[in-house]
Amino acid sequence: MLEEIKKTAAFIRSQIGDFKPEAGIILGTGLGGFADRIEAEYTIDYKDIPGFPVSTVQGHAGRMIFGKVEGRSVVAMQGRFHFYEGYAMKQVTLPVRVMGLLGIRYLFVSNASGGINTSFRVGDLMIITDHINLMPNPLIGPNIEELGPRFPDMHNCYDKELIAEATRIAEQEGIKLQYGVYVGGTGPTFETQAEYRYFKAIGGDAAGMSTVPEVIVARHMSIPVFGVSVITNCGLSDEVGDHEDVQLQGRKAGVRMEKLFCEMIKKLK
Ligand code: HPA
Repeated sequence: MLEEIKKTAAFIRSQIGDFKPEAGIILGTGLGGFADRIEAEYTIDYKDIPGFPVSTVQGHAGRMIFGKVEGRSVVAMQGRFHFYEGYAMKQVTLPVRVMGLLGIRYLFVSNASGGINTSFRVGDLMIITDHINLMPNPLIGPNIEELGPRFPDMHNCYDKELIAEATRIAEQEGIKLQYGVYVGGTGPTFETQAEYRYFKAIGGDAAGMSTVPEVIVARHMSIPVFGVSVITNCGLSDEVGDHEDVQLQGRKAGVRMEKLFCEMIKKLK
């Protein structure tokens, strides 16, 4: 398995010359527009990357974009692999491991989620402070010692310094932030009302279907992680959201999220 990850990383290295990404960014829902903020130097379609799964689900092709944001070298993944699509966990997490071998020093992740915390509103940005994993753990199986330890610590899973920096930037820029625990389930069903109540009872603030596997393999490799979630619906509300309003709020949240990510990348140590 390590050989496969190394082979994929070697292929990408052969395509990007001496470009060295400092940060990896997974562009989830809400952050799609971020791609326009990257001065792209190299773009590689997933379908051309050996070892990457071929996405049959979405019509649009995924790609890795290597370029500059605020003068800093980054690699962004436009499109991620979800467990609910039927990929194995090693496929879901391969891109993060490859970015790790390419030398990223930080991982930024974004996603959409359903708010469980009743003080959250549609369109809010939630800084992920911790998670509860309800999916199979991606590290199950023989441990790859070269990447990290058998029993990785999950304290400070979402880097406290990066969260503090986000808080400072949000204050400066007048961006409202929520903070909370992301519960990662397999999907693809949204939760029943009883399940939202259960997620709340076990300490969750938002429910989603991604991110956790990627964060776990990044922490296995000791890569600091920063994660943000766009609250696109409120799970415990009786009101069925107005679809157009949800989309509008999502786009508005996306603009705020892009701003936050750009400023954070600018200030990376
Ligand atoms: N549950 C799980 N995933 C989600 C939700 C939700 O309510 N909203 C957006 N992604």
